[in-house]
Parts: sequence; C-alpha cells; structure tokens
Amino acid sequence: MYLTTPIYYANDVPHIGHAYVTIAADAVARYYRLHGQQVFLLTGTDEHGVNIERIARRRGVHPQTHVDEIAAAFTQLWQRLDIQYDRFIRTTEPEHVRTALDLWSRLQASGDLYRGTYEGDYCPRCEAYYQPDELLDGDCPVHHLPCEHLQEENWFFRLSNYQAQLERLIGETDFVQPPTRRNEVLGVLRQGLKDFSVTRRQVSWGIPVPESPGEVLYVWVDALANYLSGGPWPADTHLVGKEIVRFHCLYWPALLLSAGLALPRRVFAHGWLTKDGQKISKTTGNTIDPGALVDRYGSDAVRYYFVRAVPFGKDGDFTEQAFLATYNGDLANGFGNLVQRATALATRHPDAGSRAPATSAEDKLRRAAEALPTRIEAAFDTLALHEAATAVGEFVRAVDRYLDATEPWKQRDPERLATVLDHVVEATRVAAWYYAPFIPRAALEAHCRLIGTPPVPDGGAFEARPRGTVRTGEPLFARQKTSPGGR
Ligand code: MSP
Repeated sequence: MYLTTPIYYANDVPHIGHAYVTIAADAVARYYRLHGQQVFLLTGTDEHGVNIERIARRRGVHPQTHVDEIAAAFTQLWQRLDIQYDRFIRTTEPEHVRTALDLWSRLQASGDLYRGTYEGDYCPRCEAYYQPDELLDGDCPVHHLPCEHLQEENWFFRLSNYQAQLERLIGETDFVQPPTRRNEVLGVLRQGLKDFSVTRRQVSWGIPVPESPGEVLYVWVDALANYLSGGPWPADTHLVGKEIVRFHCLYWPALLLSAGLALPRRVFAHGWLTKDGQKISKTTGNTIDPGALVDRYGSDAVRYYFVRAVPFGKDGDFTEQAFLATYNGDLANGFGNLVQRATALATRHPDAGSRAPATSAEDKLRRAAEALPTRIEAAFDTLALHEAATAVGEFVRAVDRYLDATEPWKQRDPERLATVLDHVVEATRVAAWYYAPFIPRAALEAHCRLIGTPPVPDGGAFEARPRGTVRTGEPLFARQKTSPGGR
C-alpha cells in the first residue's frame, strides 16, 4: 500500500494542521503494517514557488538555506511525533527535479500544452489561480487576504480535454472521498473545466522549463510530481486537506492521463482544524505549536486527540480543554488505568496452575474482543479513524466492566481467579495491540508489560492462553488537572 500526505510548503515551521494529517497517515500506515502489509508512507516538503522566494528574500537568505531549515523543522517534529515515514521528499532534490521534468516532457509529447496569456487573480500563499466568483469580497477564500492580479504569457495545459474522462472517474467511481467532497468536485466539473497555466514567468525559484528560458514550472505541477518521484507509483491513497481537492482530484488525474501514467486509487480529503472557527494557519496567526503540546503531554496524547476527537473528513475545533478531557477520559482513566489494574492484579496473585471453566462473563468479553477486528477493519477501509479509535475505547470499557463484574480482588477460589486474570491480561493486551497505530509508545509499553513482547503483525486475535510473566510500571498517562491554569 502506497500512502501519501500532502507535501507541506516550506515557508514556515510546521503547525498543528500539518501534524494533524501526518499523524492520521501514520496511524493508517501503522495499522496496515500491523496486519502484515507492505506499506510505503511518503511525506515531505514543497519547496519552490513565489511565496517561498519572497519569504527568503525578506529574511535575507538564499531560498535554499531557508527551505533547508524548514525541512529540518518538519523532520524533527515527525521524529518527536513517532511518524514512521518511508521517505521524506523535498522538491529541491535533483531526483525530484528529474521526475518533474520527465512529467513535463510527457505532457509536451501528448500535445496538451500550448502557449497562452494568463490574466487573473493569484493567491501566492495558496499558489493558486482563482476565478472572480471564487473570491470572497475580492480576497482569497482560504486566507482572506487580497490576491494579486497577474498577466503573463506562459504554457497552458488543456484540462478541458479531460472533461469527459474526469466526469466518469469522479461520477462513477469512489476516486474522491468522502462523498461530500466528491459532490463538490462534481459541482466544479458541471461548470466546465478551464485550461490552466502550468508555468510562471515572474518567479525564479522553481524548476526551469527547458524550452522557455525565464519560466519555471507552476509550483503545483512541480509539487504533484512528488508522488511519482517519492514512492512506488501508483499511490493507493492520497490524504489531502479539503482546500487542495481541486488540485488532486482534477488537475492531477488529468495530468497523469495526458502523460500516459497510472492514476492513484483514491483521494481522501480531510477537514480543517479550526480555532474559534478559523482555519489554523500561519497567515491567520492562530497557530498552535505541536512541539509544545508534545513537550507537555507526550506524543501519544497529541496523536490520540487528533485521531479520536475529530471525525476524519470533518472540521474540528481545537481547545486545550477538550484536549485535556479526552486525555483524562480515554487515556489516563481509560486505557492507562486498565493497564495499571490488569498488571497490578496479575502480579499480586501467583498463578494457581489450573483453571476454572469459563463462564458467561468470559464469553461476553471474548465476543467483544472478537467483534473488534471487523469493526476496526471497516473503519480503516473508509478512513473513519475516529471510529476505529472509538471501537478500541469501547472495548477498554468492556474490559473494565468485566473486571467490575468478576471482582477478582474478592475472589477466593484460586482456579477461578486464574481464569479471570488470564482473560483480563489477554483482553488488555488486545486493546494495546489495536491501540498501537494511535498511541504507539504506550501500546508498546503495555504490550511488553502484559506478555513480555511488542505487538507483532496479525497479533490482534484474543487467545485463550495462560498468562505469562506480567510486569507493572508507572502509569502510562498521568492524570492532568483541568482547572484553569492548573496542571
Ligand atoms: N504544498 C501544498 C500541498 C502540495 S501536495 C502535492 C500545500 N501545503 S500546505 O502546507 O499549505 O498544506 C498542506 C496540508 O496541511 C493541507 O492540505 C492539510 O492537509 C494540512 N493542513 C494545513 N492547515 C491545516 C489545518 N488548519 N487543519 C488541518 N489540516 C491542515 O497546500
């Protein structure tokens, strides 16, 4: 499975929105790896374009120096968030430049490029052209800042040639997900596709166009080519933010069709993290530093919150209060507390050697464990990541209920006690195994405390086995004070 995140503009250090989609992608990659699949996760930085050129100039540094610094900030953050990517691609790498130019020559060979004059509005922050009716009071609809009026002669791509093919691709398959985004793209298609310009004249920080000195590739053509240079094309899933759906669902498949290259299987658009309803972005000035959150609460807590709290595909508002409520509820009092209970009980009572037969309480617990794989698999299939995390959380509560019902702390019959503890330890282990894509550190630690080994591929099935050596440890998630200003 080949999975991608967007490549992030190397204009500024990463914020929580970038972390959001990267965490989601990493959870997906980890889930399929845990099921024994070969996964290739690609992420990286988008390093060309007028915006970066200007930012570097304002800083008085060469654009390459600027993007080197920013790319390092991204890789450092991914390390701290335990992102296991297979390749971090940078669009200034020679290998990427070669691939982008190969794409370019394929487009030339197809006859879909022609010279034309572009006149209209351009948002340098989006690196996107906008039609007058797309602007909000004359401003960019994403950044709410003025666009620049451009007029320049450059190369155009005959997107309009692909109207019928794209209508079939988008209307008749599940190429675009979720359905709300698909309908949005169908709406754009109904208005009729317009050709778009694929080179820029007034920019020098980009990939030079071989046949037109003084022009560079339009940064989106350059950026989209990263998916070809970065991994084993074709991709199975592109994860993208909802604001870049047009590029991934219309421009990208048309460019690939023109170039005679295979199409990705699907594009999934997620929503925005907002603060007070506004997209979190550098331009809006409402960024949240993911590194600071990791310092304070640990990487698992940050990862968990974003997967669990926001239904993947929808927008979600970030507040520290909601973050703490989820943390305490699901991690400290939920999974973390269960691991404490299970390991404390199992180490306190020596193994009796023989077991009492299972009762209806054990059957119920086992059925809950056996229902997990199907529910979680269905959730991952549709990228309903929050639903997968919810399923594990509900299972944790089922194990808690089992403990409350069987009350091993009051049990005097050693054989019955042994049966209950086997079940508690194994059920908690299963919870850890299924939580591994979301909270890899705590899941690894819990799994090791419970059975002495890390989670292994395909190890999610509940197995009736006598418990082995169990070890206790510090709480996996310290409870946080939620009162204002408190910790
Ligand atoms: N460089 C382009 C993408 C090229 S892909 C071939 C770009 N970069 S970006 O840095 O502006 O944003 C990339 C992605 O970061 C978004 O599509 C989205 O996945 C994520 N996010 C950025 N801000 C976000 C939020 N406030 N909320 C959620 N995700 C956000 O566009």
